Amino acid sequence: MKAYRAALLRFDSAGQPVHDTDGLLLTAPDASGTERVLACGAWPALAHLLQTPETQGVTVQHWPGKLIAPGFVDTHVHYPQVDVIGSPADGLLPWLENYTFPAETRFADPVHAKAVATVFLDELQRNGVTTALAFATSHPTSVDALFAAAQARRMRLITGLCLMDQNAPDGLRNPPSAPGRNDAAEHSLAQSAELIDRWHGTDRLGYAITPRFVPTCSDAQLRGAGELAARYPDVWVQSHVAENRDEIAWVRQLHPQARSYLDVYHRFGLLRERTVYAHGIHLDDTDRALLRDTGSAVAVSPTSNLFLGSGLFDFEAAQRSGHLHGLASDVGGGTSFSPFETMKAAYFTGRMALESQGGTPKPGLSLKPAHLWWLHTAGAAQSLGLAGVVGNLVPGAEADFVVLDPQATPLLARRTAAARSLDELLFAFIILADDRAVADTFLA
Ligand code: GUN
Ligand code: ZN
Repeated sequence: MKAYRAALLRFDSAGQPVHDTDGLLLTAPDASGTERVLACGAWPALAHLLQTPETQGVTVQHWPGKLIAPGFVDTHVHYPQVDVIGSPADGLLPWLENYTFPAETRFADPVHAKAVATVFLDELQRNGVTTALAFATSHPTSVDALFAAAQARRMRLITGLCLMDQNAPDGLRNPPSAPGRNDAAEHSLAQSAELIDRWHGTDRLGYAITPRFVPTCSDAQLRGAGELAARYPDVWVQSHVAENRDEIAWVRQLHPQARSYLDVYHRFGLLRERTVYAHGIHLDDTDRALLRDTGSAVAVSPTSNLFLGSGLFDFEAAQRSGHLHGLASDVGGGTSFSPFETMKAAYFTGRMALESQGGTPKPGLSLKPAHLWWLHTAGAAQSLGLAGVVGNLVPGAEADFVVLDPQATPLLARRTAAARSLDELLFAFIILADDRAVADTFLA
């Protein structure tokens, strides 16, 4: 058993924040060795738990002045794009062609894949991110490298083979099973099934069927991905949707019979629970209702949307429709691994909300700091179908947490010291903090 004492942040079942200025977190390993939350709450109410025969000899790690909070959950990030961050381009499609596809081609090399996997997981951890739904590349070696690296540090991580059998360069398109054959789609799906069998449910790892986006996937590949998703209902599905206007026009050309971009995925059986679509900027209310009714989620990627000029996610419409959504870095279209940067960009996005994309500006939302935080922890976990497992400090949850230092920088120390409420404290972190404020990250 382990005991930690500091201020504590967690969320109740309605998503409202609970803050103990002096709190206790008690954890113990389960049969598989994963540390789980036993109890979590105010020190005066729980201190007696340290007086029982089972807790005799347990020393309390005490961090006065620090804040224990749930580890952050990144609902969409690309591990092979660590070295693409900050590559300027005239929007999504030239950015993919000129920077991203060339960088991803290098992941056929297992040595490169392994090295970048380590850097990637180090960055997540340094920034307090304890769970990620990540893209790998179209090379099975890239998937094996990331799973193996996450397994070695007992991290909860979901990834999968990138499906892209058309409209991508040689060396990155899924290849056929042998030179000269015409079975790239079938082969990529067989490789996906093999990877599911090898990794899904092993320790804290999960598999995601990963059609990159509609333009890079043939009909046969999308159909096969949908069939695989039906065959393995507890496996995740991840992709991109309605990010950029040129991309959407391309999808309309490729699939003129579909009602919308999202409808293409629906027709191929790719909307269900545990399905996460990045961006979802240019959706209409029919799409949003479809997301809600199928239990699919949007990974809101605000730093990427601003960097690539893709548009502004409509938080108000998402809330109105009630579909699942959580925050994501989308590195390397996104500009930072830091959840504080992502929450800040989400706040700016809400402030800049438009009547409709390209319509008349109206005063935007002022998203509440605790809600932004929830969208990157418990709410993000809910979007992944992992509510109560990660993203919150509640009994039974896996003990993934961060220790935050409100005094990490002079300005942060000044501003947090003057905070008069929890919202002011959380907002000070969102606006002013970076990886220096993450004093420690605990995985299970
Ligand atoms: N759409 C298809 N691939 C990608 C990608 O790698 N990044 C982003 N932001 N959008 C995509
Ligand atoms: Zn992405």
